[in-house]
Amino acid sequence: MKQQLETIRQSALAAIERTAQLKELDDLRVRYLGKKGELTALLKQMGGLSPEERPVIGQLANEVREALANAIAVQSKRLEEAALNARLASETLDVTIPGKKPQLGHKHPMSIVLDELKDVFLGMGFQIAEGPEIEMASYNFTKLNTEEGHPARDWQDTFYLREDSSLLLRTQTSPMQVRVMENQKPPIRIIAPGRVYRKDEVDATHSPMFHQIEGLVVDKGITMADLKGTLDSVLKALYGPNTVTRFRPHHFPFTEPSCEVDVQCHACGGVGCRVCKGEGWIEVLGAGMVHPKVLEGCGIDTEVYSGWAFGAGVERLVLRRFSIADLRLIFENDIRFLNQF
Ligand code: DAH
Repeated sequence: MKQQLETIRQSALAAIERTAQLKELDDLRVRYLGKKGELTALLKQMGGLSPEERPVIGQLANEVREALANAIAVQSKRLEEAALNARLASETLDVTIPGKKPQLGHKHPMSIVLDELKDVFLGMGFQIAEGPEIEMASYNFTKLNTEEGHPARDWQDTFYLREDSSLLLRTQTSPMQVRVMENQKPPIRIIAPGRVYRKDEVDATHSPMFHQIEGLVVDKGITMADLKGTLDSVLKALYGPNTVTRFRPHHFPFTEPSCEVDVQCHACGGVGCRVCKGEGWIEVLGAGMVHPKVLEGCGIDTEVYSGWAFGAGVERLVLRRFSIADLRLIFENDIRFLNQF
């Protein structure tokens, strides 16, 4: 029996040392030390020993058991360490490998010009107002002195959202004048940029959706001189200090008097060329003194207050600013076009 115990010790220790995985090691533990293991089976035969042999063999058996248990613990630790090291090695980060450069975007030409405009106006004490693109006809037209039956309200030109023509996609940012005046007492200095909609076919100069920027000033003693001075400064800020402006009489229902503002052609200096279609001037916006009917409709006393307003198409300003020939480029988002800004 002593011999058998020694054999178990030798072969078990050798087997334990040879294991390469924790699972194998555990199998060995069961095989030698488990309830149905080899060592246990051997000890069960101790009943057949003589009283002299029994303590000797018993002690040896305990020694063997302890030796195996120790060897298993040591090997287990070794295997765990090896597994950890292998995992660390496989998950190593090489911080010296060059990174992937993220592609940085930049502002769309529309945002470039819009941000410049906002900067200029904010610097002059204006605030920015925003309002709905789905608008009531009363705000888009009636309160702007554009009664029912006016050609501007034609179904042909306007996206109406109801049979009774009461709701629509705003055709201009001018309803923001009314919304601001109804909610705010003078002095008022606001700009209102935003999307507007008209039933136009897409071509090089038209789009059914485009952007306008509205401006409104209401205060005591406001005159046409304020309108001219402010718009002249703004256009010089946008197009350069040598920009020449021209204020030409026009008609809008919600201003009196009304004007259109032109900028002298940068390409020919006013002589007339292809860029300005021979005119020497390029129209950039509409403006005027706010009509007394519009002011009074918003509860503003025209004996005390007066105001001026303007509305400009933002796309047109952008095309001119960057000498872009086709409006569609603004909306197509072709990366080859956008990368140039
Ligand atoms: N809303 C006009 C348009 O879409 C532009 C305009 C003209 C706005 C004169 C104004 C203004 O505020 O005073 O054609």
